[in-house]
Amino acid sequence: MAIRNIRISTDEVLRKICKPVKEITPNLLTLLDDMADTMYEANGVGLAAPQVGILKRVVVIDIGEGLVELINPEILETSGSQIDDEGCLSVPGKYAPVERPNYVKVKAMDRDGNEFIIEGEELMARALCHEIDHLDGILYIDKALPVEEA
Ligand code: NI
Repeated sequence: MAIRNIRISTDEVLRKICKPVKEITPNLLTLLDDMADTMYEANGVGLAAPQVGILKRVVVIDIGEGLVELINPEILETSGSQIDDEGCLSVPGKYAPVERPNYVKVKAMDRDGNEFIIEGEELMARALCHEIDHLDGILYIDKALPVEEA
């Protein structure tokens, strides 16, 4: 397990489309372990593989309810909407409001290669959408609503 370098928003790697994982390899398991370490070290609630320079469809999330690892995640359903401030480890020190669905249902594969379904509401829905966007080269700043001047 190791801490990896988190890429910052001007890095082109964050704008690439990530490739699906075809097989679970020892390298992929190391990537998952390192991504969790890196997320916790940075006090983040989520991290996507391109943020550590790897163009694979892999995400880790922990909103304080335990680690969730998602390989090849796909959003199946969304409903409702919510607006709240969002941040990103690749955009350090900044926050801005983003509209997201209030509920999402996601299909993914776990580290044993088994497909599973995860549902999230509120912060979990936000984290799932934010991290899955990273896999398509999308940053939250692309979707941020204008901030009213105080
Ligand atoms: Ni992010």
